[in-house]
Amino acid sequence: MNDREKILEVKNLKKYYPAKHGNYLKAVDGVTFDIYRGETLGIVGESGCGKTTCGKTCIGILPKTDGTVYFRGKDIHRMTRKQRFAFTKEVQMIFQDPYASLDPHQKVYNIIAEGIRIHRLAGNKTEEQKMVLELLEMAGLLAGHASRNVHEFSGGQRQRIGIARALSVNPGFLFCDEPISALDVSIQAQIINLLMDLKKEKDLTMFFIAHDLSIVRHISDRIGVMYLGKMVELTDSDTLYDHPLHPYTEALLTAIPIADPDISAGRKQMILEGEVPSPVNPPQGCRFAGRCKKCMGICHDTEPVMQEIEPNHWAACHLYGRKEK
Ligand SMILES: Nc1ncnc2c1ncn2[C@@H]1O[C@H](COP(=O)(O)OP(=O)(O)O)[C@@H](O)[C@H]1O
Ligand SMILES: [Mg+2]
Repeated sequence: MNDREKILEVKNLKKYYPAKHGNYLKAVDGVTFDIYRGETLGIVGESGCGKTTCGKTCIGILPKTDGTVYFRGKDIHRMTRKQRFAFTKEVQMIFQDPYASLDPHQKVYNIIAEGIRIHRLAGNKTEEQKMVLELLEMAGLLAGHASRNVHEFSGGQRQRIGIARALSVNPGFLFCDEPISALDVSIQAQIINLLMDLKKEKDLTMFFIAHDLSIVRHISDRIGVMYLGKMVELTDSDTLYDHPLHPYTEALLTAIPIADPDISAGRKQMILEGEVPSPVNPPQGCRFAGRCKKCMGICHDTEPVMQEIEPNHWAACHLYGRKEK
């Protein structure tokens, strides 16, 4: 994995929002990770832990407070206008709420054709029409849908329109922020399968945010777990599910309903109790200490750092001591 090209390199990224009384809300507070070409990195964690802020700061939609983000070797917070234009073709986004992210009064055709026009990807009108129809088909929509308005479509179909729009400019990188959370459960698997098929077909690299650990396993090669502005564990999907190291990950995993009663009975429940502390005034030591069943003295005063506990398996937790370099 490590010889592969790094598409995104995020180092000690921080994003603080101004809060009351001159304080700052530390939404993302020193996060480091890479995304390799062709992989899907999933990010999970409870609502409010900083996933969206992290993702948006990583693709330059939000300015950063500190740290660096390199996209294919370029600092994305210091791009020239020309570089940024090229970046908007290379990186596309799919958001949680297809109702908010698509103008309901627009024709589907125009939504999908917009990027093609901006980036001059079609030689003429006929070519543009052909491209739009291909994109509709790819996203599981019909040619006849092109002439209809967005408001005529259901949530699942709107998300398909959003996917067709994102892919219209042939991006190499897709940022998906909870793309199925707003959809009916019956539709969720369809959209996930579509994204997985398209990823394979188009050789995409994906950054996939989810708060539900049950879906993200299937779509992600590796998964990062965030808690209160920090990354607390990062490893490949199967390892994270079968052999989690951080007590927070364990707690998140036991919250997933399991259909098989034998497995369900064997898995110790670790209910998450207590409130998530405020990101304006995070606790001094480990941010999870107050809710952690395995908390030790050190956890309240020393912040654990991310360490490679096992090959390619990183966690920030005092249970594993301090590995000497
Ligand atoms: N524009 C903003 N201004 C101030 N605070 C914000 C803003 N956006 C998000 N936050 C705060 O930052 C924290 C992380 O939010 P967010 O990135 O949306 O988390 P997630 O996507 O994991 O739910 C939360 O405490 C949230 O209230
Ligand atoms: Mg979010």
